[in-house]
Amino acid sequence: MRIYFDNAASTPMSDAVLSVMHQHLKASFGNPSSIHADGRKARTVIEQARKTIAGYLNASIGEIFFTSGGSESNNMAIKCAVRDLGIKTIISSPLEHHCVLHSIANVSKFSEVNVIHTRVDKKGRIDIAHLAELIKENNTGSMVSLMHANNEIGTLANLKEIADLCKEHGVLFHSDTVQTVGKLSIDVAETPISFLTGSGHKFHGPNGVGFIYINSDNIIGPYIDGGAQERNMRAGTENIAGISALAKAFELANVELEPRKQHIEVLRAYLIEQLQANFKDIQFNGDWEGSFLYTILSVSFPATSKTDLLVFSLDIAGISCSGGSACSSGVEKGSHVMGTLFPDQDRKTIRFSFSHYNTKQEIDILIGKLKEIL
Ligand SMILES: Cc1ncc(COP(=O)(O)O)c(C=O)c1O
Repeated sequence: MRIYFDNAASTPMSDAVLSVMHQHLKASFGNPSSIHADGRKARTVIEQARKTIAGYLNASIGEIFFTSGGSESNNMAIKCAVRDLGIKTIISSPLEHHCVLHSIANVSKFSEVNVIHTRVDKKGRIDIAHLAELIKENNTGSMVSLMHANNEIGTLANLKEIADLCKEHGVLFHSDTVQTVGKLSIDVAETPISFLTGSGHKFHGPNGVGFIYINSDNIIGPYIDGGAQERNMRAGTENIAGISALAKAFELANVELEPRKQHIEVLRAYLIEQLQANFKDIQFNGDWEGSFLYTILSVSFPATSKTDLLVFSLDIAGISCSGGSACSSGVEKGSHVMGTLFPDQDRKTIRFSFSHYNTKQEIDILIGKLKEIL
């Protein structure tokens, strides 16, 4: 039996989610744009899913749009805000996911967009005073784009504080919430966000389906041109089974949020304790004791021939996790997050990321394997 500690990359689907997906793959084959009964039946499935997502975010149904996942949703927010909302300045950070960093880099090639990065500290925390200064200096035609939790090191931003700051100065706020929706509750009626994004496979739903919340104050045009699907915002016949399974997974993630969170928090604390007890000279990355996402633990080991191959060796030992070190050799492509935070550090970073399916026994096995390997 393999052990899976890579839940920030993708999560397994539960039987309940698979069963919903299977049911709709089989039965909801009509085109949701067709006016006959089979089409209307498929349309109902999509609208019910939209209602579910909107309900847990406390959004209006008309503010949720289905996409192919987190990357598309983030591309859409950034590119449409520049194209349709007169955004000329984007205030972001160097630690964003590549789909945000590259979208911003791309729009700035084709439009006159000024990109400014807010300062971050060694734990990946936003310098909020600097952000406030940047917002005040650039309070017309600006958008802040900052992720809620960093997918590599788990550092959590204060979404409400940033959202309030943006609102106060009339600046739009996009947050890549791909790692946090379904794991932390977000209420868009309390937290004034312009755009937030989600991806099914991060909360035990299927790959290749996600959503974007677009606050109704922001009227943007289609991201994909063609038919009038998704209220003319994203053309293409909808992924009905995927959308229904995404909504089921989101419902379960929210209904079971607290017990899942408590279970994972205990595991994460136990892994920290065991790593500290068994290995010298390890370093935990991000704001691991302060404001962190409980599903992620990033650990760096001194660089040796053994730690160089650690992800690979753990894989052979039956354990899945992720690497992500600053690139020092120039051979492998390093992590831009670790490269920004520790440009001169030669250490090997491993990210363990958990779900409610993980157990304490799996952590004992991981520690045993790590001891053998190192
Ligand atoms: C923070 C963050 N944003 C965006 C994405 C992209 O999501 P998707 O794989 O659904 O395109 C990921 C996935 O790794 C992520 O962790």
